[in-house]
Amino acid sequence: MAFSFHDLLLLASFAAFALLLPAEADVKSYQFDIVVKNVSRLCHPKPIVTVNGRFPGPTIYAREGDRVIINVTNYAQFNMSIHWHGMKQFRNGWADGPAYITQCPIQTGSSYAYDFNVTGQRGTLWWHAHILWLRATVHGAIVVMPKQGVPYPFPQPHGEAELVLGEWWHHDVEAVEKQGNMLGLPPNMSDAHTINGKPGPLFPCSEKHTYALEVESGKTYLLRIVNAALNDELFFAIAGHNMTVVEIDAVYTKPFATDAILIAPGQTTNVLVKADRLPGRYFMSVKPFNDATIPVDNKTATAILQYKGVPNSVLPTVPQLPQTNDTKFATNFLANLRSLNSQEYPVNVPLNVDRHLFYTIGLGVNPCPTCLNGTRLTASLNNITFVMPQIGLLQAHYFDIKGVFRLDFPDKPLAAFNYTGAPLTANLGTSLGTRLSKIAFNSTVELVLQDTNLLSVESHPFHLHGYNFFVVGTGFGNFDPAKDPATYNLVDPPERNTVGVPAGGWTAIRFRANNPGVWFMHCHLEVHTTWGLKMAFVVEDGNGPEESILTPPKNLPPC
Ligand SMILES: *[C@@H]1O[C@H](CO)[C@@H](O)[C@H](O)[C@H]1NC(C)=O
Ligand SMILES: *[C@@H]1O[C@H](CO)[C@@H](O)[C@H](O)[C@H]1NC(C)=O
Ligand SMILES: *[C@@H]1O[C@H](CO)[C@@H](O)[C@H](O)[C@H]1NC(C)=O
Ligand SMILES: *[C@@H]1O[C@H](CO)[C@@H](O)[C@H](O)[C@H]1NC(C)=O
Ligand SMILES: *[C@@H]1O[C@H](CO)[C@@H](O)[C@H](O)[C@H]1NC(C)=O
Ligand SMILES: *[C@@H]1O[C@H](CO)[C@@H](O)[C@H](O)[C@H]1NC(C)=O
Ligand SMILES: *[C@@H]1O[C@H](CO)[C@@H](O)[C@H](O)[C@H]1NC(C)=O
Ligand SMILES: *[C@@H]1O[C@H](CO)[C@@H](O)[C@H](O)[C@H]1NC(C)=O
Ligand SMILES: *[C@@H]1O[C@H](CO)[C@@H](O)[C@H](O)[C@H]1NC(C)=O
Ligand SMILES: *[C@@H]1O[C@H](CO)[C@@H](O)[C@H](O)[C@H]1NC(C)=O
Ligand SMILES: *[C@@H]1O[C@H](CO)[C@@H](O)[C@H](O)[C@H]1NC(C)=O
Ligand SMILES: *[C@@H]1O[C@H](CO)[C@@H](O)[C@H](O)[C@H]1NC(C)=O
Repeated sequence: MAFSFHDLLLLASFAAFALLLPAEADVKSYQFDIVVKNVSRLCHPKPIVTVNGRFPGPTIYAREGDRVIINVTNYAQFNMSIHWHGMKQFRNGWADGPAYITQCPIQTGSSYAYDFNVTGQRGTLWWHAHILWLRATVHGAIVVMPKQGVPYPFPQPHGEAELVLGEWWHHDVEAVEKQGNMLGLPPNMSDAHTINGKPGPLFPCSEKHTYALEVESGKTYLLRIVNAALNDELFFAIAGHNMTVVEIDAVYTKPFATDAILIAPGQTTNVLVKADRLPGRYFMSVKPFNDATIPVDNKTATAILQYKGVPNSVLPTVPQLPQTNDTKFATNFLANLRSLNSQEYPVNVPLNVDRHLFYTIGLGVNPCPTCLNGTRLTASLNNITFVMPQIGLLQAHYFDIKGVFRLDFPDKPLAAFNYTGAPLTANLGTSLGTRLSKIAFNSTVELVLQDTNLLSVESHPFHLHGYNFFVVGTGFGNFDPAKDPATYNLVDPPERNTVGVPAGGWTAIRFRANNPGVWFMHCHLEVHTTWGLKMAFVVEDGNGPEESILTPPKNLPPC
C-alpha cells in the first residue's frame, strides 16, 4: 500500500461529503473520529485515545493550493483539539488548533471542522493533539504534494513511505502526566520508542509489532520521517544504506548524504534511499540523542527495510547509530542543512531587522505545598512561566475581551547573567503569567533563544505556530551580540518551523511577521511545555481585510 500512487490514496481517503462539492474544487475532506481503542504493543493491551481507531492516525494527503477540511468528532472522555503542525494558516488561526491559544477544545460529543488552505508550501508536515499529553497517541503525517505537473527538485523516487516516530508508555499517558504534575517531578520516562506505532523485535512481546518496508533492488525511495515523540530528540539510521536529505519541515534543502539523521520532536525530514545493497533485510533504527545530564528513555526501536523476495527468516543487519551523547555528530548534521535557494524556491530571509528579541530558556523550581518536596519543577522564557488561560487567546484578542492576557512579555531578560556558566542551583523561582508579545504587522523579527544553566543545560526544540522561520545562526555558550551576527548565514539558511536550541547554546531565527493572529511558541518537549516553557505572539492586523484575521467560523467550539 505504501507504494501506490498518491492520487489513488487521495481517492481512497475522501470522505463522502467532498463529493457534494463541485468537481473542479480541490477540496480534500477527512472525518476524524476521536475514539478510545484497546491496543497491544508491548506485553499488555491498554486503551489509548486514537483517531479512527488507528495508531498512528491516518495520513492527510493534499496538494499545494488545496483546501482541506477535517471534521473532528470527539467521542473520547477528554476535551480535544488538533494542531496541523507547520501549516502556515494565513490569517486563519481559527484552524491552528492549540487548546486555549487559538480555540477552546472540542468537548466530548461535539465536532469542529478545521478548514484551511494549503498555500505556498509542499512537503511533509504532521498533525497532533494539542492538549494535555494526548498527542502521544493522537498524531499522524500530512503529505502535501507539489501542484499538479510540478516535479520534485530531485529525481522522482520509485516509491514513498511515511515513517512516524513515537514514544510508548506501558501505562496510561494521562496518568503518567498527572502523577508528575502532582508530585512536582518529571513524569515517568517512556518505555519504548516506535516506528509507525510499532517498537520492533528488540522489545518483549513485540515480535508481531514490526513495521517492514518492501523495496525493489536498484530503486530509490522517498522516506517522509516525522518525529512525533513527546520528549526525545532522535537519531535514525538504516543499516548499510546512506540517506540523502532533501527536505526539512516541508522546505526543500540542498541534498546531502549522511549515514544517520537527527530529528527533534516536531520536526520532519525527507530522505532519499537507494536500495543498492545486497538484497536482504536491514534494520531501520531509532534511538535518542541526549547530551544533557537529564536521564532519557534510551531504548532503540527498529523497523525493517526488506528487499523484495528476501524471506523473513533472514536476520536483519543492525545499523551503527551515533552514541546517545554524540554532540559532535548532531552539530555537524545540523550544520549541513541549507535551504535549496533555487530560482523556483528562493530564500526570503529578512536582511534588516525591525525588532530584536532575546529570550532565555530556563528550568526552575517553584513552591508547591502539596508536591512531594514542597516544590514543583518549572520552566520559563525570560524567567516567565506561562500560565494557560481559560478561554482561547485568539478569541480574547479578536473580540477584545479584557483581563485574559497581558501584552508585556519582555524583549530581553530583566537582568543579564552568565547564562551558560556554572550550574545555577539557588534562587530558581520564576514569575508566573499569561504574558504575550505584540508584533507589528509585516515587521521583521530576529529572536535569539538562549539556553541557560539554571538547574541544567538541555537541548530544546522550539516550535513557532503560523510561520516558518530562518535559522540564521547557532552556537555554544552565551550569544555575543557584538560578534555572533557576523557568523550568520543570510544566503541559504535552513527554513523550518521547529528548531533545536543546543544544550548550553543559542539559536537565532528570523521571520517576517506577515501573518496576523495569536501564534503560540513553545518547546516541543511535552514535559517542558507542561512546565510553562511557552509564550505567544500577537501579530497585529495590517491595513484592510486582506491583511487582517479572518472572521471566525460559526462552529468554533465554545468554552
Ligand atoms: C483491554 O484488553 C485487555 C486484555 O484483552 C482486557 O483485560 C481489558 O479489560 C481491555 N480493556 C478495555 C478498556 O477494553
Ligand atoms: C462532522 O461530523 C459530525 C458527526 O458525524 C456530523 O454531525 C457533522 O455534521 C459533521 N460536520 C461537518 C461540517 O461535516
Ligand atoms: C471539558 O470542557 C468542559 C467545558 O469547559 C468542562 O466542563 C469539562 O469538565 C471538561 N472535561 C474534562 C474531562 O476535562
Ligand atoms: C481558501 O481559499 C479560497 C479561495 O481563494 C477562499 O475563498 C477562502 O476564503 C480561503 N479560506 C481560508 C480559510 O483562508
Ligand atoms: C511511574 O514509575 C514508578 C516507578 O517505576 C511506578 O511505581 C509508578 O506506578 C509509575 N507511574 C505511572 C503513572 O505509571
Ligand atoms: C555514507 O556517508 C558517510 C558520511 O556521512 C560517508 O563517510 C560514507 O562513505 C558513505 N557511505 C557510502 C556507502 O556511501
Ligand atoms: C540506558 O539508561 C539506563 C538508565 O536509565 C542505563 O542503566 C543504561 O546503561 C542505558 N543504556 C545505554 C545503552 O546507554
Ligand atoms: C558518551 O557516552 C559514552 C558511553 O556512555 C562515554 O564513554 C563518553 O565519555 C561520553 N562522551 C561524552 C562526550 O560525554
Ligand atoms: C525530591 O524528592 C525526591 C524523592 O524524595 C528526591 O529524589 C529528589 O532529589 C528531590 N528533588 C528536589 C528537586 O528536591
Ligand atoms: C561564564 O562562566 C564560564 C564557566 O564558568 C566562564 O568560563 C566564563 O568566563 C564566564 N563568563 C563571564 C563573562 O563571566
Ligand atoms: C525570576 O523571578 C523570580 C520571581 O520574581 C526571582 O526570584 C528570580 O530571581 C528571577 N530569576 C532570574 C534568573 O531572573
Ligand atoms: C511587507 O514588507 C515587504 C518589504 O517592505 C514588502 O515588500 C511587502 O509588500 C509587505 N507586505 C505587505 C503585505 O504589506
